[in-house]
Amino acid sequence: MDKKNIDWSNIGFGYMQTDKRYVSFFQDGAWDEGVLTEDANVVLNECAGVLQYAQTIFEGLKAYTTENGHIVAFRPDLNAERMESSAKRLEMPVFPRERFVDAVTQVVEANAAYVPPYGSGATLYIRPYMFGFNSVIGVKPADVYQFRIFCTPVGPYFKGGVKPLTIRVSDFDRAAPHGTGNIKAGLNYAMSLHAIVTAHQEGFDENMYLDPGTRTKVEETGGANFLFVTRDGKVVTPKSDSILPSITRRSLLHVAKEYLGLEVEEREVYLEEVKDFAECGLCGTAAVISPVGKIVDHDREICLPSGMTQMGPVTKKLYDTLTGIQMGRIQAPEGWIHVIQ
Ligand code: PLP
Ligand code: COI
Repeated sequence: MDKKNIDWSNIGFGYMQTDKRYVSFFQDGAWDEGVLTEDANVVLNECAGVLQYAQTIFEGLKAYTTENGHIVAFRPDLNAERMESSAKRLEMPVFPRERFVDAVTQVVEANAAYVPPYGSGATLYIRPYMFGFNSVIGVKPADVYQFRIFCTPVGPYFKGGVKPLTIRVSDFDRAAPHGTGNIKAGLNYAMSLHAIVTAHQEGFDENMYLDPGTRTKVEETGGANFLFVTRDGKVVTPKSDSILPSITRRSLLHVAKEYLGLEVEEREVYLEEVKDFAECGLCGTAAVISPVGKIVDHDREICLPSGMTQMGPVTKKLYDTLTGIQMGRIQAPEGWIHVIQ
């Protein structure tokens, strides 16, 4: 199959319209069969639940071309599972897990010409989402929903690829205690927009959010979880009820333990102890693992010993092993790789 004529190695993390997307309607208490369509537009009533009360959730996962030429998706079942918890929290219907994985497969197959070639540095980003479709004016859930999936080829999330990032401790919170920080709801990202725009204006790549209850513990950034490495080589990740349970982070902890023989800890991480870590990285589908070189907490700078020019050694091993598994160079754990073609 001929690939599209795209300069794969130079694309950024942006939206490029592809040929087909999946759409299914929920109406009268049931999902319809779902179809692939060429129409990339959604026409909504002015009073649609998503427009008025932000009733929308989404997922993000990637498809890859492996070393031996297959097209695969990474752990789509976990995205289906997470979308189920997001749906329940926002009083939305659940899109069945097997149908979710099947719809991902259909969309990737239909857009196979957009799956970046092996070794190009780009991947196919897949965006499943669901939103309240019909009009609601009193505050209540919609009763008609649309579930859709589109995909778009992407390059690195952070400009500069694997160059270490400079982040700042945000004065804003992205989540509330007992709020929606642990689900993938559009509203969490709306909450973070002012903080990210001002961070960029002030020369920072991202925000480090603290726990909204006490503002003493590290939570996550606007689009990725944190991984830290201690000076004696232990991998530490923050545990909190208000961060998104990252599939990349869960996978990396397994890789650290089972592939690299490292000790791993999921626990509360205080901002005060960050200065003692050797390495810091941001992990997520879009971010993969992006190294952090400097964390600015108002008038204090925390410079990670791994420096500002390259990834720390443990972060690099984690990165190489995870991407090796995703691209088929390293044997994956059972069930991690969903072969599409
Ligand atoms: N945290 C937030 C707020 C995110 O938006 C994402 C991206 O999905 C992640 C963490 C990473 O999660 P995952 O590894 O499942 O992509
Ligand atoms: C992802 O990594 O899939 C995300 O949803 C992060 C988003 C900020 C692009």
